Amino acid sequence: KRIVVLISGSGSNLQAIIDAVENGQINGQVVAVISNKSDAFGLKRAENHNIEHCVINHKNYPDRESFDAQLQTSIEQFAPDIVVLAGFMRILTPGFVTHFTGKLINIHPSLLPKFKGLDTHQRALDAEEQYHGASVHFVTPELDGGPVIVQAPVAIVSGETVDSLKAKVHKVEHQIYPLAVQLLCEDKITMTNEGVHYMNEML
Ligand code: GRF
Repeated sequence: KRIVVLISGSGSNLQAIIDAVENGQINGQVVAVISNKSDAFGLKRAENHNIEHCVINHKNYPDRESFDAQLQTSIEQFAPDIVVLAGFMRILTPGFVTHFTGKLINIHPSLLPKFKGLDTHQRALDAEEQYHGASVHFVTPELDGGPVIVQAPVAIVSGETVDSLKAKVHKVEHQIYPLAVQLLCEDKITMTNEGVHYMNEML
């Protein structure tokens, strides 16, 4: 399968996916990395692995619709089967999202449906949760609201800080994101307008 990854920053999740492709866990290839920020470190990661990469700066577009239209065109040039949002910090328009229904996935640093949106680590601490974590989900027009594919919990211990929690969550993200991409590459989980379908062997 052909995988396109969208990033805005460090790209440590991108790296985990690249590593999983290289070690054979993922039966697919990362055909392109697209960033909306020219200084995203993830672009270097792509370069280091000879993966095609480009920048589409949202600041060069008058509105979300025109940015998303360009993004869609650029992504389609790579004919992807899967489009992975890996720390891509732009809200996407419903038109873009529905165009890629079933192909578009995101990772979110919380145990969805808890703590959609930003500042999830602080909010989990403030709420005195026992567990926090990360979720990979199909993207639908509702922000952080699409069906969950894989989740991983981390325990919140006494003395936990935003930084310590963030580090723990990142660590599990690097395990579950490649796993979710693997499942999609093997057609073990699919989403259509009818809903999500898990292959029997997973149940
Ligand atoms: C991750 O914490 C992810 O959950 C969030 O953005 C962060 C991206 O980190 N959506 P990285 O760029 O993959 O290191």
